[in-house]
Amino acid sequence: MNIAVKPQGVRESDAYILPLAELNPAQTDRFQDDTIWPVFERLRREDPVHFTPESEFGPYWSIVRWDDIMAVDTDHETFSSTEGIGLNTLEARKAFEKALGRSEEEDIAAAKRGEGSFIGIDEPYHAPKRKAVSPTLAPANLAKMSPIVRERAGEILDALPIGEPFDWVDKVSMELTAMTLATLFDFPMEQRRRLTTWSDMFMNEPGHGGVESWEQKIMSIFECRAVFQDLWNQRLDAEPGIDLISMLAHDPATRNMGYEEYQGNVVLLIVGGNDTTRNTISGSVYWLNKNPDQYDKLRADPDLVVNMVSETIRYQTPLAHMSRVATRDVEIGGKTIKKGDRVVMWYISGNRDESVIADPDDFIIDRERPRQHLSFGFGVHRCVGNRLAELQLRILWEEILKRGLEIEVMDKPKYLRSNLIHGIRELPVQIH
Ligand code: HEM
Repeated sequence: MNIAVKPQGVRESDAYILPLAELNPAQTDRFQDDTIWPVFERLRREDPVHFTPESEFGPYWSIVRWDDIMAVDTDHETFSSTEGIGLNTLEARKAFEKALGRSEEEDIAAAKRGEGSFIGIDEPYHAPKRKAVSPTLAPANLAKMSPIVRERAGEILDALPIGEPFDWVDKVSMELTAMTLATLFDFPMEQRRRLTTWSDMFMNEPGHGGVESWEQKIMSIFECRAVFQDLWNQRLDAEPGIDLISMLAHDPATRNMGYEEYQGNVVLLIVGGNDTTRNTISGSVYWLNKNPDQYDKLRADPDLVVNMVSETIRYQTPLAHMSRVATRDVEIGGKTIKKGDRVVMWYISGNRDESVIADPDDFIIDRERPRQHLSFGFGVHRCVGNRLAELQLRILWEEILKRGLEIEVMDKPKYLRSNLIHGIRELPVQIH
């Protein structure tokens, strides 16, 4: 049995007791309990290209060091996105096959033909489809959006209770991201929280994050599909606009896409724009509270907001991983990954790689290179919404500091049970 020596300062957990071959870093309960860190710490030291032969997600490789993650993420010919970019359990796959009446093989075949949401297809199909939505998320359009985001952030903050505990996730993180997303889609503002609900339904397993059963989850997905199909029809008949649905409905690269492909892109944009930013907003409050010296620095110098936002995005790593499937035999870190093997890039671990980031486990808001992180990925699929995410966080914190709001975290956050969305479900706070 391989019993590793636990380095000093590493928290107690089974991560250093289990034989390496039994380490299954994707196990969702460790994410929920926030006990994932020693697993990745050990793997970075002992087995940076790690194979889990058997798991609820099937066999998969874990890539945990910065350089290896970069190597995989930037080689889209060897590492394909067409067979799913997350890890699904067998149970989830079966439930979806049943509900959608389509097999996983059919989905993969469609993705290989370039049909599917653009995060799940390869070149040459991916680039033109990405281009159809990127103007909405590019700096020129964001500059136009920023006064709206600022106004909404101000309204949210001004409505917060003072001197009594409340959940920051619900009242601020979800509200701001839902409002921004509704603006991006030109979705009815008064129904914005449906976007949040759908995002939760897409991402969570039954028993978690508001999902009660597979039936409820699938019903909710169908409801979302129907609403967005109506929006598509409306936008198709209207003059081209700058919202995301209109861009998709009128751009030559996307206007003829099929129903499933459109719906896949809707899911991508809802989830992409929702959970990630929401969790960064929650993370920023939590980590500043856990590190009062950093919070003091920020109050003393509000110009540090931009850096603090990037440091939070690194530290929180809102998407813990992305996954690919090898299109040929390939060597990474001295190990041979076979054609057809699933490979998981653990951004959450790469962001704590001490060989690249100094003092990676410390939250330091005035780091020299705060945008040096893997949280947005690299290569052709690098997050197309990254500037929008940063914008929302920057504006929110500028408005918090302007109002002199003192936010105190009252209890530990509750984490999501997910190995993909590194998420905070609940964060009790009080404003003084
Ligand atoms: C802090 C917030 C965010 C984080 C950490 C994040 C992270 C990521 C990551 C890791 C990827 C995949 C990168 C890769 O495979 O190399 C991605 C792709 C994507 N993200 Fe984000 N994201 C965030 C916010 C947003 C926002 C606000 C939107 C806007 C709607 C968005 C939309 C997308 C889309 C559409 C893709 C697919 C890009 C492609 O395949 O070309 N994301 N994001």
